[in-house]
Order: sequence, then C-alpha cells, then structure tokens
Amino acid sequence: MTAFATPSFFFREAALQIDAEKERQALGDRLPAHVGIIMDGNGRWATKRGMPRAFGHRAGTERLRGIIRLSSDLGIRALSLYAFSTENWKRPKAEVDALFGLFMEYFVNEVEELHTNRVRIRVLGDVEGLPANVGAAVRAAEKKTAENDGLRLNVALNYGSRAETVRAVQSLAREAASGALSPDAISEETLLSRLDTAGLPELDLLIRTGGEQRLSNFLLLQAAYAELAFVDTLWPDYSDELYMDTLRDYARRNRRFGGLK
Ligand code: IPE
Ligand code: IPE
Ligand code: MG
Repeated sequence: MTAFATPSFFFREAALQIDAEKERQALGDRLPAHVGIIMDGNGRWATKRGMPRAFGHRAGTERLRGIIRLSSDLGIRALSLYAFSTENWKRPKAEVDALFGLFMEYFVNEVEELHTNRVRIRVLGDVEGLPANVGAAVRAAEKKTAENDGLRLNVALNYGSRAETVRAVQSLAREAASGALSPDAISEETLLSRLDTAGLPELDLLIRTGGEQRLSNFLLLQAAYAELAFVDTLWPDYSDELYMDTLRDYARRNRRFGGLK
C-alpha cells in the first residue's frame, strides 16, 4: 500500500498513473535523497489561456498534491519547494496578496492530510518577514508535524539564498563575539549547520520548470554538487509522469564529485 492511499486522496485523484512501488524498486538507490524544485511558469501558463496570473498560481498549487505524494511514495527523503522568493516582493501588490491567500488556503486545507501521511513540514526563509497570519500558519504546521518520520517537506517562503547566508553568518558572528565560538573552529559543516536546511540530506537534484536556466537565488550553497534539471514545461503542466522522467534521467547520470568514476 502506498503512503498516500487514503480515501480522500483516492476520491480527489482517482487516476494515479504511476506505480510508485515498481519505480522505487527499479531505481533503488539511484533515486535522489533530496530534491529541490523551482516551480516556475504559473504566470505564463495563465496568460496563454487569457486568464489572470493568479489563475496560474492556483493551478500551480493544484500540482503540489501529486508531486508531494509521488515523492513520498518513492521514498525520497526531502523535497524543497520554492514558493516565494525574497525578490518576489517586487511584483504588484495584488499578485503578492493572491499568492499569500493561496499559501494560507494551502496550509489550512492540506496540513491535516500531510500529517496523516507522516510528512514533516519545515519552512525555509525569513518567517518574520511574512504576513503575520501566514507566519502563524506555517509555524503551526511545523509544530504539528515535527515528530513525523516521513517525507521532509520544505516550503521556501520569503526565501533567498543570500539572505539565508547572511542570517547564518550573523548567528556565527554573534557566537564568536560572545566568545563561545573560535573563528578558527568554523568549518564547512558549521556554516551548513546554520542554514535553513540544517539536518536535511544533501541536495541531490535541483529541478526548474518553466524553461529558464537560472537558480534565482535558490539553495545556492546547497546546490554545490546537485544535478541540475531544466525543464521547459510550465509548472502547472509538470505532471507526475514528467517528474518521473526527470527522476529517471537523474538516475542515469554519473556523479563524480570532483573524483574519477
Ligand atoms: C512561479 O511562477 C511562481 C512564483 C514565482 C511565485 P511565475 O509567477 O514566476 O510564472 P512566470 O515565470 O511569470 O510564468
Ligand atoms: C523563482 O521564479 C521563484 C519561485 C519560483 C518562487 P521567478 O519567476 O521569481 O524567477 P525569475 O524572476 O524569472 O528569475
Ligand atoms: Mg517566473
């Protein structure tokens, strides 16, 4: 039985095409432990249909359920989703408001089911800078699911890799200034342990949908040796099958980490 074979999932998405257990056995340890996704292309998806951009964001949110469920059923340990960047505040207020409305809806409607399926939620990014209701909702979701042992689902909200690095460096500097930490004792591990992704497996695969080939300030340090996959499909059209194709492509890659293999 798959982790997500609950009645509510069955009724909402009856036509599950992919046999996750079969795929899991076929790919085995060639599956990534940690997948990051830059979910790009919602706006263009809506514009192509003559609809407002917010319509695309809603369609994009609809895709989350399938991708999260498949990741969980495949036994992927961590999934990090880029939902709102520190740069996205530059967008018109109406679009930002629509996005935060959707995030609220998502956290209110989906957390119970994620919890049932043992998903553990963490928010990456500056939670203090989020609207108060969104901040409270994400903290509540983290708290509720903190003891779960299933998929580690990380939602990057008000996230920027440079801002995250600044926060990490500030925390190290504060500790050094207090005398509790010697600057010479700061290692790569020390720095990584202060990032929002502390304690998660190394990022193995970073996917960007929507056709752009850039990282847009997402997980820059964590991606040091990640495999990159740039997919032309707009996020709302990125189906379970296409995700599976990306994972199969990843499984065929030869990762050398600077050595010879
Ligand atoms: C990604 O889709 C979602 C967010 C950035 C919140 P976009 O809104 O960037 O969609 P495009 O790139 O304009 O099509
Ligand atoms: C990256 O997409 C951010 C998210 C998907 C949340 P953007 O659409 O904001 O990135 P740019 O502006 O094209 O680099
Ligand atoms: Mg975009």
